[in-house]
Amino acid sequence: MCGIVGYVGSKNAQSILLEGLHRLEYRGYDSAGIVTFQDGDACLLRVKGKVAGLDSLVNDSHRDDSIGIGHTRWATHGEPSERNAHPHNVGDIFLVHNGIIENYKDLKSVLETRGYSFVSETDTEVLTALVDSIYQQDKNLFAAVSEALHMVVGAYGIAVVAKDNMDEVVVARSGSPLVIGVGEGETFIASDPSALVGNTNQVIFLKDGEVAKCTRDGVTVKDSADQAVEPIVETIEMDIQAMQKKGFDHFLVKEIFDQPESLSATLAGRVVKDQDLLRLGGLNMSEEELRAVKHIFIVACGTASYASMMASYYIERFADDVVIDTVVASELRYRSFNVPENSLAIFVSQSGETADTIACLKEMKQRGVRCLGVVNAVGSTIAREVDGGIYIHAGAEISVASTKGFTSQVVALVLFGLVMAQAKGMSIEDVRPYIDELDALPEEIAAVLDTKNEEVKQLAADYSQYEHAFYIGRDILYPLALEGALKLKETSYIHVEGQPAGELKHGSIALIDDRFFEVAFVMDNELFEKSMSNIIEVQARGGHVIVVTNSSREIEAERVVRIESRLKMFTPLLFNVVSQLFAYYVAVNRGNDVDQPRNLAKSVTVE
Ligand code: G6P
Repeated sequence: MCGIVGYVGSKNAQSILLEGLHRLEYRGYDSAGIVTFQDGDACLLRVKGKVAGLDSLVNDSHRDDSIGIGHTRWATHGEPSERNAHPHNVGDIFLVHNGIIENYKDLKSVLETRGYSFVSETDTEVLTALVDSIYQQDKNLFAAVSEALHMVVGAYGIAVVAKDNMDEVVVARSGSPLVIGVGEGETFIASDPSALVGNTNQVIFLKDGEVAKCTRDGVTVKDSADQAVEPIVETIEMDIQAMQKKGFDHFLVKEIFDQPESLSATLAGRVVKDQDLLRLGGLNMSEEELRAVKHIFIVACGTASYASMMASYYIERFADDVVIDTVVASELRYRSFNVPENSLAIFVSQSGETADTIACLKEMKQRGVRCLGVVNAVGSTIAREVDGGIYIHAGAEISVASTKGFTSQVVALVLFGLVMAQAKGMSIEDVRPYIDELDALPEEIAAVLDTKNEEVKQLAADYSQYEHAFYIGRDILYPLALEGALKLKETSYIHVEGQPAGELKHGSIALIDDRFFEVAFVMDNELFEKSMSNIIEVQARGGHVIVVTNSSREIEAERVVRIESRLKMFTPLLFNVVSQLFAYYVAVNRGNDVDQPRNLAKSVTVE
């Protein structure tokens, strides 16, 4: 949430910062800004709205600027406006910030008594003034930032420049990601390594509490106790291809179509069909430890929480001595929950940077619980802080609404469940059907994309004008209904609710009239008839029902999307592809900003 970039070197800082901000825009996009310098002459450009607004402001007079910082914002304090956009400037100091300074009001009052006045409504401007007030004492930026941060309560990733020091960008993090790219005679800064691709693959992941001085010649790091730390430079592999649209109109649809490939990457080396083998290399758990697990907390937010819920329905089917609690991180962290003996906690996050999920991870670690991560972003905070885990390897997910992340998260969690169940004695005969279906799943998804795209596009055209919808399903299709509803509301701004199909009659059915459409997921199994009854109840009240099913039985509904597949257990993930395409095409029809929906950000690094 909010993207940060920085540069100190010898090249054109404006173009490097702008390129980085464009890559980070998925993190927030309500306002943006950069500041670059030459000999202390600052060029500060800020706009309300997207980074593209900055492109036209760049002018030749600052082409030789070779140091600067930039930011794309998702507002926390103060409305999105040019005045509240970062970088903020107070005195000699320019600063960009990701996170929240909780004690900013107290700091503001103190600074006002020292003669500082404020023009924005942001906590960031207060932090900028605080750094300036210390910097003025002996003009040591590295020391001033460290000292200021000792006085701050909250979460931050920051980058700071003083206009009379053209050799340093000082950065720091606590609870918000920050990465430093090391080049030849130049140093890059970003809140996410994706902004560094093409510039360098040598990176230093700053740890919580660390402050770093970045110069053209290198990086000096110290920890929260002001002790020097030797930075660890790592090589990261990032695929620039994955960050491009590959001929699609939007990242969202490109990522939906990525799924056969991204899921194959999740499965690669882990499901080996011809050897009847399941293998997860990064769990760091012995068979004995897996056998001992009796209780699993799966902790996540948003789409990741629905993926977790869906996976828990699967795992419960074969791990019958384990109780699973799937919990939304923002709730768990303030609940006085009990941790039974032999508990394990799994944190599921595409970005690996979601603040609520990280807070729960810290709490679980403090309570001595073994923690695993199911994460996409390599090197992210969650990935680094867990005891072990599974990278989903889905490739960069740029569109704010998560699609391929969901599919791979479900599968990675089910894989974990199967590996655990095998350690507990699940026979290969019982595991084999899962191996067969998982192995076939990428191809089955490809077939749905191939055969259903046009049909779903037309369906979306026919239902785009509605303002209300319900998504319903039973059993494993209930989490799917929640995810389908979230996808549609995120992209289309239609009022959508996901409900267990059987629960509708206990209240929500009161809403239904012919202004609603309902998407009903129905499997051809023992619940088929019950689901049909729910659909009839809705239709009797004027609702327009679209059924998505793998059944060839006769179904009375306004529209029926039939999925032909030999899969039995994982058909819900095929239904989900239909639901993803539907959300995409409805959003396009409504003229929405598909990849960057209003009010959202991809990675929410504040509470
Ligand atoms: C935000 C995004 C959602 C995402 C959720 C969890 O709310 O808008 O799309 O599902 O964060 O993100 P994570 O990176 O932890 O999976």
